[in-house]
Amino acid sequence: MKINAGNYGKKKTELLCGFVLEDSNKALGLPKFDAKTSSSINQSIKDMNGKLGKVTIIPIPGNKQAQRILLAGIGKKENLTNDTIRFVSGKIAQKARELKLKEFSIIAPPTFVWDSTSAVSQIIEGAKISLYKFDKFKAEKSDKSPDLTIIGPKSNEGSKAIKVAEITSEGVMFAKNIANLPPNECTPTTLANFAKDISKKNKMKCTIISQPELKKKGFGGITAVGKGSKNEPKLIAIEHNHGPKSQKPIVLVGKAVTFDTGGISLKPGQGMDEMKFDKCGGCTVLGIMKSVSELKLPINVVGIIPSVENMPGGEAYRPGDIIKLYNGKTAEILNTDAEGRLILADALAYGEKQYSPKAIIDFATLTGACIVALGNNVAAIVSNDKQLTKEITNSSKTTTEEIWELPLTQDYMDMIKSDVADIKNVGIGKAAGTITAAAFLKSAIKDTPWVHFDIAGVAWTQGAATKQKPYNPKGATGFGVRLILDYLQKL
Ligand code: BES
Ligand code: MG
Ligand code: ZN
Repeated sequence: MKINAGNYGKKKTELLCGFVLEDSNKALGLPKFDAKTSSSINQSIKDMNGKLGKVTIIPIPGNKQAQRILLAGIGKKENLTNDTIRFVSGKIAQKARELKLKEFSIIAPPTFVWDSTSAVSQIIEGAKISLYKFDKFKAEKSDKSPDLTIIGPKSNEGSKAIKVAEITSEGVMFAKNIANLPPNECTPTTLANFAKDISKKNKMKCTIISQPELKKKGFGGITAVGKGSKNEPKLIAIEHNHGPKSQKPIVLVGKAVTFDTGGISLKPGQGMDEMKFDKCGGCTVLGIMKSVSELKLPINVVGIIPSVENMPGGEAYRPGDIIKLYNGKTAEILNTDAEGRLILADALAYGEKQYSPKAIIDFATLTGACIVALGNNVAAIVSNDKQLTKEITNSSKTTTEEIWELPLTQDYMDMIKSDVADIKNVGIGKAAGTITAAAFLKSAIKDTPWVHFDIAGVAWTQGAATKQKPYNPKGATGFGVRLILDYLQKL
């Protein structure tokens, strides 16, 4: 899908789309038409009444500027959000593809309704991401995405917004593409190759740490979890250095378990296939790094991805084992299915030691308990820093990637104390499973401001429990890519 900024009438469009507010009698920004066309437009507006999600198409044969008009209801003005625009734009784009159009045009709402520049971003995100299809392994490919012309603000700001939204959407789709890969086609080595690839293209520094170096350097968590699989673990680090040398970087860490069987504490068979999505945190970080470098953001950002396959092989780690993490602390293994916190503890400690960052943000499909607590439309966050939490919450509001903070007090830290080692990899029974997992991560960090995202519920669509949105078709969602890109741009 190519995106252009245009104005009406310059070129004939196959589909001219305008938004209609509820209870209003006109389509926002729609140009004047002849009497006959105007009267059918007015009739259609009356019939659909701008109700959110309603879409009407009016053919206008013989017109020199457009073949058809599409009216899209966006609901009441007081209920408008960024997500309304993404939602409606996604519906329009899907309609345009269904009609097998080569291109279509959307009129951006005027600023008295919604900030035009911001609307441009939402229109593009909605349209591009809604047309995403994962068809790599299908003989029959989906139809080509039609190109989109945005009719609206032609300012410098407008064209910058277009570029940013395009790169952002590409980052989301890149994350989805990798996350959707099946586990036989995506091992830690595959992820390392993707990382090398985007680093080379966009001049980032990429370091891959493999066995036996991982073991030698003391990455006890990654090494232990990785032992059960023939597919060797990797620690991937990508550096985007576009800020002053003296500026502390933001470190992003993403859990990438390319398949989580649970290991010796084997998971039940039902639904185990979904554990190919246990690499989504790492994919989010890859998507962000790709976009950060393409946007050439004038800051320093590091992406760190610990990647393993959690398998029950003959050499697999076991319940009862005591291992030594990268920060020197010992951990008693009580359940090999609580593997994410082990590889993340190594990566977080490494990130803090190696880069002395301004902040660390991690993404992980860490606990089933998170789905019990918050369901499939809100991610949990846990943090040690109020200011960072505030900034992240702000970006979450802009991008509608919803989050809810859970507490992490000393009492929870006490719940991971072990009788035989410094800490243990499960808490007390099922109590506060998302928080005790976060407590384990916190124990790996000294004092750097940190936010942890548990994206177990939101990283991929999980049946009817996931709210349907055109821009979240089945599969991986790329949760967090837009949020962090927004946060980084506001720095
Ligand atoms: N990857 C899973 C968490 C998960 C489960 C994410 C379902 C999304 C959907 C994680 O590695 C795991 O297995 N966690 C255990 C921890 C427990 C053994 C303390 C869990 O949540 O059951
Ligand atoms: Mg597990
Ligand atoms: Zn896992």
